[in-house]
Amino acid sequence: MLISIPNLLNPEQLTEIRQILDSTDWQDGRLTVGTQAATVKRNRQLPEGSESLAHIRAIVTQALGNSALFFSAALPLKLLPPFVNRYEGDENYYGNHIDNAMRSHPKGGFVRADLSATLFFSEPDEYDGGELVIEDTFGTQRIKLQAGSMVLYPGSSVHQVTPVTKGCRLASFMFIQSMIRSDANRRILFEMDTAISALRQRHGESDELVRLTGSYHNLLRAWADS
Ligand code: NI
Repeated sequence: MLISIPNLLNPEQLTEIRQILDSTDWQDGRLTVGTQAATVKRNRQLPEGSESLAHIRAIVTQALGNSALFFSAALPLKLLPPFVNRYEGDENYYGNHIDNAMRSHPKGGFVRADLSATLFFSEPDEYDGGELVIEDTFGTQRIKLQAGSMVLYPGSSVHQVTPVTKGCRLASFMFIQSMIRSDANRRILFEMDTAISALRQRHGESDELVRLTGSYHNLLRAWADS
């Protein structure tokens, strides 16, 4: 299941991030991937330990924490600190790959990448190409969102970023371990939660809605890791 989260960042947060990225140092994106991915990856990333990266991580993490849609769709348990990348000039693509399943967290332990996410920092008209192409169960999806918006997709998907042929594509990408390991079960919970919220908005509270909400939580109780 692919889910777009429009305007995850507000305009002030986006402006702040773009200002940070106007004057910062980058490193070769191949430093953070496995051997297969390294053969197809050509981009730049903010280095671990950079002040710019720490600042952007704080903004993005706060925005994620404020998004009810992100919580409902991802049911996040652990988040690997987000990365920031740039596609421009000769370093402009990332060929087909699957993200590593297990990522070591800088503070110890591992994060299982159940979900991957891309948060766009550049507007679609700032660059040509640079589409995120994801092979989903419903076919191939080509994604290029407005700056400040994010797409969430299963970590198990084969995906790529097509060459940026003009301009510059700035984005954050991140990996999330969900309380719900199974994509299918997570989808059931997301659709149920969305429907319950819509019913509650339309008709107000009712005994049936209390029971349906209870069923949602009982499924979560049955399936969730903690
Ligand atoms: Ni990837």
